[in-house]
Amino acid sequence: MKFMTERIAREGRALNEDVLLVDSFLNHQVDMELMRQCGDAFAEHFRGKGITRVLTVESSGIAPAGMAALALGVPLVFLKKKTSRITAGDVYQTPVQSFTKGTRYELTVASRYLPAGEKVLFIDDFLAMGEAALGVARLVKEAGSAIAGIGIVIEKSFQPGRKKLEAAGFDVFSLARVKAMREGAIEFVEE
Ligand code: G4P
Repeated sequence: MKFMTERIAREGRALNEDVLLVDSFLNHQVDMELMRQCGDAFAEHFRGKGITRVLTVESSGIAPAGMAALALGVPLVFLKKKTSRITAGDVYQTPVQSFTKGTRYELTVASRYLPAGEKVLFIDDFLAMGEAALGVARLVKEAGSAIAGIGIVIEKSFQPGRKKLEAAGFDVFSLARVKAMREGAIEFVEE
């Protein structure tokens, strides 16, 4: 999607060969008009798939996923990375390793917000190793629902996330695909 690659080209900053900083519009300050465009693009791509629920992981996925849920007219549920007494009770949980941040967390969702028989669209801000998406897919399967698509705002195509998700049979749609980065330069996969 041209609007996202243009915005990254204009404001994104490659910290090194692995990490892209986009905190002026996605990861800290959030450009809601841009998020609306993201939501509309996801909705247009996945409209024919019978989506009944949009899932994301807190926190930066919530804005684009929320706009997609609004455009599709379905509920939004964000999965939590921290458990608390409030989320305790009847939950689905799976461990996820974040290679980018070097952390490990328990992806958690209350079972009442992930009923059986749903067609889930999973949306996230970044796709790197694909571990968050695979964790969500495990929980969706455990709940007796199905992933009908995966929508990503920024895919780092030089990392194995897309390959892993496609190998698992998922339809991955990314608004921007970064082919390579080095300090001060960002290259995109040709559309
Ligand atoms: P994976 O799910 O594809 O395996 O990715 P990974 O665990 O490696 O990345 C986890 C976290 O790192 C996510 O944020 C993701 O958005 C972020 N991330 C990955 N690559 C980049 C990058 O190049 N730039 C930036 N800015 N972030 C990146 P998170 O822990 O869920 O944080 P947040 O959603 O609360 O912001």
